[in-house]
Amino acid sequence: MTTTVRVLESSEEDVRRGPEIIIHENKYEFCRYNLKISRFINANLGFSAHVWDAGVALCRYFEKEKINFTGKKVIELGSGTGIVGILAALLGGYVTMTDKPKVLKQIETNVSINIPSVCRHRVNIRPLMWGENHTNFNPAYDFILGSDIVYSSVVYPALIETLRYLADQGATIYLSSELRKSNGSPDFHNNLLPHYFNCQVVDRIEGKDVVVYKMTKIATTSEEDPLPSKE
Ligand SMILES: C[S@@+](CC[C@H](N)C(=O)[O-])C[C@H]1O[C@@H](n2cnc3c(N)ncnc32)[C@H](O)[C@@H]1O
Repeated sequence: MTTTVRVLESSEEDVRRGPEIIIHENKYEFCRYNLKISRFINANLGFSAHVWDAGVALCRYFEKEKINFTGKKVIELGSGTGIVGILAALLGGYVTMTDKPKVLKQIETNVSINIPSVCRHRVNIRPLMWGENHTNFNPAYDFILGSDIVYSSVVYPALIETLRYLADQGATIYLSSELRKSNGSPDFHNNLLPHYFNCQVVDRIEGKDVVVYKMTKIATTSEEDPLPSKE
């Protein structure tokens, strides 16, 4: 396959072109790790083929707070390019990265580029559709991560259902969201999630409306605990 590399100075982005796939590559540094994140441009991945500010913010938060995932079981929802889960793995976690099936190849590519082979056994990449197949996962996680996964009100009930299932054994959840009134994400964080989770704002990116939340599930009996309606 013939490959052309073009460097875009403004965004430090490399573009690789071949007959089948166009990959844009962005470079980041967190916690002294240099990450090269590939985005599959012509693979019909939509929002998944982008590194969102909320993802960068969550990585910066881990860096700032020196979050240590050593030996911890971590699951990431809506991994997209995988930038957050990859950093969690480099920081010592046993990380399950998840997304819709069509996104997994992009995640696999980024894992193979960024995770040294000696650490690869700590990374697992699996399909997880919120509200549909979360029961395939054993909810014994220490951490649940998600960046910019709160952006479509249609799936909020399914997302809550999955979060509640996965957080059943006391996981700490870090959600990083860009708050956009147009999709109801402020209402989701301020009014809906607090029914089920203790929620705390732990970081904000000024000027970008990006907020990092730390959450834990509120313990309830099953009778007190109706799942949110999918309507
Ligand atoms: C806006 S992107 C964020 C990607 C990445 N976390 C980041 O911060 O750059 C949202 C991700 O959530 C995934 N997603 C959306 N709805 C989903 C669902 N119902 N089940 C599983 N994943 C979903 C998308 O495929 C996409 O990769």
